[in-house]
Amino acid sequence: PSSNSQMEGSSGLGMANCRAKGGSPGFKVAILGAAGGIGQPLALLMKMNPLVSVLHLYDVVNTPGVTADISHMDTGAVVRGFLGPQQLENALTGMDLVVIPAGVPRKPGMTRDDLFNINAGIVKTLCEGIAKCCPKAIVNVISNPVNSTVPIAAEVFKRAGTYDPKRLLGVTKLDVVRANTFVAEVLGLDPREVDVPVVGGHAGVTILPLLSQVKPPCSLSPEETEYLTSRIQNGGTEVVEAKAGAGSATLSMAYAAVKFADACLRGLRGDAGVVECAYVSSQVTELPFFATKVLLGRNGVEEIYSLGPLNEYERAGLNKAKEELAASIQKGVTFIRK
Ligand code: NAI
Repeated sequence: PSSNSQMEGSSGLGMANCRAKGGSPGFKVAILGAAGGIGQPLALLMKMNPLVSVLHLYDVVNTPGVTADISHMDTGAVVRGFLGPQQLENALTGMDLVVIPAGVPRKPGMTRDDLFNINAGIVKTLCEGIAKCCPKAIVNVISNPVNSTVPIAAEVFKRAGTYDPKRLLGVTKLDVVRANTFVAEVLGLDPREVDVPVVGGHAGVTILPLLSQVKPPCSLSPEETEYLTSRIQNGGTEVVEAKAGAGSATLSMAYAAVKFADACLRGLRGDAGVVECAYVSSQVTELPFFATKVLLGRNGVEEIYSLGPLNEYERAGLNKAKEELAASIQKGVTFIRK
């Protein structure tokens, strides 16, 4: 067979895998929740990434179809599919990077915290698998509420004795992507030239864009600042409402997730100066987790940058963000410790 895909448990394709495995250098990446709204376009984009040599697609449904489909792309990565909990361990063994977009998305009227009851358990189970099968992997958590699911992952890893705070990152990149787009629109710039730091967390008022630190330097009026802050904080809800019950952001999220995963892989490779905003274990504030710019390297998060100078508007936003974040973190920790 000429295919370079294989479903776990299927036969006949082993030879193709053996041939392909020896070839391309690169990293082994698993996507958990790969058949979902985010998972599918994320799998597509990861298959296009030259830093990926092996791509494992895991879900509890539909991975055979997604795997067969993605595997026909004529790029280097070998694709393998894994279906259901009994194949989770094989999906994870040997992975360098695990990206988790598994779980239910919001519907109109829901907050991210409304997803807690279902997604907390999903993230817990998946992280138990990671602790057992690839404890050294970098983990990118997309499943909401990120403000709580990252503390959940940390608690699972602590229990297993594998916790390395440098390797656990909550993905807030979509907030940065949105901020760059919306700010560029107001300033009349190309979004590719705009860099907006977004700190705090990933829900409502915990999403704190630092508009005083936009690059290139610009001056926004109080009205523009208010409009942009609110639009960035509610960007997810804008999509949820437009999709009217059919889910939340998936395409822009896959784009953001693959940019973030690529940054993690470039860090692992040893590239210098790879900086991204991410929600990580942090001492920048008194909270145990906080999103700021971080430097990515061979061990994951190599350095965490401070907030920099904030204006009065941002200081007020920071206080609001911290209040909500503290409760979300506690909720995640309690879920595991209870
Ligand atoms: P979806 O429902 O389209 O896909 C989720 C996938 O997860 C499904 O294929 C489902 O079968 C799978 N899944 C469920 N339980 C699983 C388990 N135990 N193990 C493995 N896979 C499992 O949802 P969508 O739109 O892809 O969103 C996924 C998550 O990402 C949601 O929690 C959503 O809130 C979150 N999200 C996060 C964003 C961020 O910026 N961090 C942005 C947008 C969404």
